Amino acid sequence: MSSWALGSICCFDSPSSQRHDVAHRRQPITTTAAIAGVKRDVAELTMGRLSLRRATPSDLPFIMETERLPGFDKMVGRWTADQHKAAYSKPSYAYLLGTEIGGEAFGFAIIRDLDDPHGNVCLKRIAIASPGRGYGTPFLGMVLDWVFREATAYRVWLDVLADNDRARHVYMRGGFTEEGLLRRAYKLPDESRLMSILRPEWLKQRLTRSTE
Ligand SMILES: CC(C)(COP(=O)(O)OP(=O)(O)OC[C@H]1O[C@@H](n2cnc3c(N)ncnc32)[C@H](O)[C@@H]1OP(=O)(O)O)[C@@H](O)C(=O)NCCC(=O)NCCS
Repeated sequence: MSSWALGSICCFDSPSSQRHDVAHRRQPITTTAAIAGVKRDVAELTMGRLSLRRATPSDLPFIMETERLPGFDKMVGRWTADQHKAAYSKPSYAYLLGTEIGGEAFGFAIIRDLDDPHGNVCLKRIAIASPGRGYGTPFLGMVLDWVFREATAYRVWLDVLADNDRARHVYMRGGFTEEGLLRRAYKLPDESRLMSILRPEWLKQRLTRSTE
């Protein structure tokens, strides 16, 4: 397994063909307001006892430790401190941290391509320090709320290794649709799946949530 391949897991660089495809299915974006990017920097989103905020540089050690948890190397990419610092400093990236309200961090997400002119935003990486305890599902919901509310995203996409059944289940529950198989996209034995959720799908889901 090469470090190049691992660094790419959970999102590869946007191929131009994919952007054209999305552009053809809806009107070209022309107004400045509709161009992807962060509209405002929300201080915090909360859901029950959990909250989401922008990570600060002091959260990078937690993020790096989480990426390096035993067994995670087969599911999620990992970066060096320099790679994280470089990404963190770019306006097209957002580092989001999940915490218990007033407490410890439990997970993180890295968002990429906030400057994409078509509003194609990539969920580059997401990981929970103690998986399987009910954090990831609400955290993904908060991440999507952040991306669709605070940024002008139209489509959030990711790729996930086909044998990462738990992550695929959580993404499906979060409203993602599988778009297809990425054939031999990485130097790994397993294939990966491309998944996405569109703004109207997220809005519908929000409505359902609020009427339950
Ligand atoms: C993927 C991840 C973010 C999900 O977060 P989480 O806290 O584990 O998720 P939750 O505990 O909220 O929910 C797990 C769900 O998966 C289900 N699940 C667990 N193992 C499963 C499996 N092998 N196959 C299918 N579903 C599975 C659980 O039943 C639960 O679903 P339910 O709520 O409908 O019962 C987390 O597991 C993680 O960080 N994994 C390691 C890194 C990773 O894979 N990142 C994603 C890379 S694309």
